[in-house]
Amino acid sequence: MTRSRFLAACRRQPVDATPVWFMRQAGRYMPEYRAIRERYGFLEMVKTPELAAEITMQPIRAFSLDAAIIFADILPLLEGMGLHLTYEQGEGPVIHNPVRSPADVAALRTPDPRETVAYTIQAIRLVKRDLEGRAPLIGFSGAPFTLAAYAIEGGSSRDHRLTKALMYAEPQAWRELMERLTTQVSAYLIAQIEAGADAVQIFDSWAGALAPGDYADYVLPFVQKCIIAVRAGCGIVPPPPIIYFGVGLSGMLGLLRQTDADVIGLDWRIHLDDGWAQTGPGVAVQGNLDPHTLLAPWPEVRRRAADILDRAAGRPGHIFNLGHGIVPETPVDTVRRLAEFVHEYSAE
Ligand code: CP3
Repeated sequence: MTRSRFLAACRRQPVDATPVWFMRQAGRYMPEYRAIRERYGFLEMVKTPELAAEITMQPIRAFSLDAAIIFADILPLLEGMGLHLTYEQGEGPVIHNPVRSPADVAALRTPDPRETVAYTIQAIRLVKRDLEGRAPLIGFSGAPFTLAAYAIEGGSSRDHRLTKALMYAEPQAWRELMERLTTQVSAYLIAQIEAGADAVQIFDSWAGALAPGDYADYVLPFVQKCIIAVRAGCGIVPPPPIIYFGVGLSGMLGLLRQTDADVIGLDWRIHLDDGWAQTGPGVAVQGNLDPHTLLAPWPEVRRRAADILDRAAGRPGHIFNLGHGIVPETPVDTVRRLAEFVHEYSAE
């Protein structure tokens, strides 16, 4: 691949302009996505490599983005472990046999993700061919905690009370569950790298539900283990950059530094420069525009994007992104203008 701005920034090397990509850059806000979605179920799209590859490419063709992210989801990995997953219209993912007891944990399988999510591994190969080196490809997985939270709650949750109850009342079962998920996540990320992923992102979307002390005791050791296993097991020197992202973690950025990820994703609840000061200079940062900003008129979007770039102040190691995924109501034209603006403004 020709020298990539995105990969350089992940390694805190200088770049000609700030790289930009958006979480959920392939999705319902794009008419091209909705056209395919009309004909297929969401899991069907994820599980058909040709469709997943086509959807991954849609935002790359439409906008000037510095990275592609494989079209997939974090939850199908749980199917291979024995959980029954569906996506219900309007209520999101549902797991029909949630994990609620030590016996449920003991019954979870840890098969090879190369077999259970072979469709995503194959989609990565197809996308690499289609990209022809035009942009690097990001692979991803849910983090052990966020996957555990889905497995236990059985779907999205506001307060994660069942997850915390199991964590506190059954610490042995909690550790066993996190061990199994760590094994799965590491193997899955390694398989994605072997198939051609140039970087990987670990989504710990719900870790912000935890107090910092609980994050340190019950979650951080498994993230660390995962990152060490991926670096050691991927067979590439130097290993591809690893991005760690969560929502609501700005009260524990010092702890996040201890994950040893190359890049920390920041949500929008902290100024980028304050967040970066807390993670320390030895790490790159990704973010952090509130995704709902994209519903504002363009001059306002532009003003807020400029503010983030001013706070990064041209220091090597900033990747522009949103603080969470693009929402379906986002105007396509705003996404196009924002990607162009990030490049123009940061190159000045
Ligand atoms: O960023 C990208 O473009 C890659 C695609 C991607 C999807 N899901 C596609 C998707 C990625 C990186 C994810 C990760 C994911 N999935 C996370 C972590 C990131 C985050 O948002 O916090 C989580 C928590 C999930 C679980 C999930 N998948 C939920 C809660 C939902 C329902 C909510 C919703 O937006 O509909 C999904 C479905 C989903 N995943 C869609 C897409 C494009 C929408 C499916 C549809 O078309 O109906």
